[in-house]
Amino acid sequence: MQNFVFHNPTKILFGKNSVPSIGAETVLFGKRVLLVYGTGSIKKHGLYDQVVQSLLAADATITEHGGVQSNPLLSHVHEGITLAKENNCEVVCAVGGGSVIDEAKAICAGTPVQHDVWKFFTGKKSIKKTLPLTTVLTLAAAGSEMNSGMVITNDATSQKFGFGNKQLFPKTSILDPSVTCSVPADYTAYGAIDAVSHVLECYFTTTDPYTPVQDRLMEGLVINAMESCNRVLAKPDDYHARADLMWTTTLALNGLTSSGLGKVGFPMHMIEHSLSAFYNVPHGAGLSAVIPGWMRFNARLQPERFAQFAERVFNIHTGNVEEKAKQGIDALTGWFSEVKSPTSITALDIPGTDIPRIAANAMTLAKVWRMREYTEEKIEAILNDCV
Ligand code: NZQ
Ligand code: ZN
Repeated sequence: MQNFVFHNPTKILFGKNSVPSIGAETVLFGKRVLLVYGTGSIKKHGLYDQVVQSLLAADATITEHGGVQSNPLLSHVHEGITLAKENNCEVVCAVGGGSVIDEAKAICAGTPVQHDVWKFFTGKKSIKKTLPLTTVLTLAAAGSEMNSGMVITNDATSQKFGFGNKQLFPKTSILDPSVTCSVPADYTAYGAIDAVSHVLECYFTTTDPYTPVQDRLMEGLVINAMESCNRVLAKPDDYHARADLMWTTTLALNGLTSSGLGKVGFPMHMIEHSLSAFYNVPHGAGLSAVIPGWMRFNARLQPERFAQFAERVFNIHTGNVEEKAKQGIDALTGWFSEVKSPTSITALDIPGTDIPRIAANAMTLAKVWRMREYTEEKIEAILNDCV
C-alpha cells in the first residue's frame, strides 16, 4: 500500500426530505447566490420550486443560470461567469447531475479571475481561489457532488478536458434519492456504468501488487452498482434501490477507492471524452462502448488482474488465467447489453474511418493528463478493439 492523504471536506446530507436544507446550507457562504441548473428536468419534477423557496426563506438573493446541457460547454460556462461577476455572486448552488455540477465548479473557478477559465484545464494557470459551491444532486452517476473534479467541453476546439483542484470540492451536497426517481432508464444505466468505470480505471491501472482492502472495496462497488441498477430498472420508484445506487456512485469517485493505490490513470475516460466531444454521446454510453475494447487490449498485458476481477465480481472459476480474464470481460460486456447500453463504437454509429481523428483528439488530453504510456498508435489500436 502506498502513502496517501485522504481528505474529503464535502459535507453530505443524505436521505428523504433533505432538499429543504439547501437554503440554510448555502447562505452560510453568502447571500448572493448563483443558481445553476440544466435544461428543465428540475422544473418538470418540482425540485426547482423547492430549492428556490428554501433559498428565499434563508434570505438569499438569486441570480439564475439555467440551460446547462449534458457534456457542458465552455461557451455556457463563460456566460455563467459573466452573470456571477455582474451580480457580485458570493456562492454558487448547483441543482442537477454531473454536467450541472461541473459547469458550476468551472464558474466557481472562473469568477475570481480575469483570464479565460479554460487556462486551468490546459495547465496554463493554477487555481488560487474559488467561489464556494453547494449542490443538490439529481442523477446518480459522475460523483462530482463529492469530489474535486470537473469536465468541460471547449466547443471552439472540440476538446473535452477534465481538471481537479481541492478547492473545487462542494462545501455541502444534498443527496435525496427520491429526487432521482424521475431519471429515465437509459440515464440510470449510464450513471451506473460511469460509476463502474471510475472503479475500473483505478482497479486496472494501479501498479501496486498488494492492495487487498482497496480491491475488496472496488469489487464490492462494481457488484453493487450493477445490482442496484438492475433493481432500479425493474422498479424505478424503489427508494432503497435508488439510495443504494446513489451512494454507490458517490463513493466510486470521492477519493476513497484510490487511496493507497499510488499513481492511477483514467485511460478509458481519456478516450471516451473524445467521443462525447465529437458526437455528444452520453458519457456512460461512450464508456460502455470503450471499456470492453480497452479491457481486451489490456488483459493481454496483465491477465492475472483481469482473472481476479472475473473471479471476485462474476464468480468465474473455470479455465486458466487468460480464459477467466476473457470470461470476466464478456460478463461485464453482457451486463452493458442487458441494461441496453452500447458495447462498441459501431453501436454508437461511429464509423471506423473516424478512429484516427478520435485518437488524435484523445492524445491531446493524454498529454495534458501526462499519460506517457499512451501514443496515438496505441489509442488507435484500442479503438480498433472497440469497433
Ligand atoms: O438538463 P437536465 O434537465 O438536468 O436533464 C438531465 C440531462 O438531460 C437529465 N436529468 C438529470 N437529473 C434528472 C434528469 N432527468 C430526470 N430526472 C432527474 N432527476 O439527465 C441528463 C443527463 O444529465 P447529466 O448531468 O449530463 O448526466 P451525468 O450526471 O452523468 O453527468 C455527465 C457529465 O459528468 C461528467 C461527464 O464528463 C459529463 O460531462 N463527469 C464528471 C466527473 C467529475 N466531475 O468527477 C467524472 C465523470 O467521469 C464524468 O466525466
Ligand atoms: Zn466518468
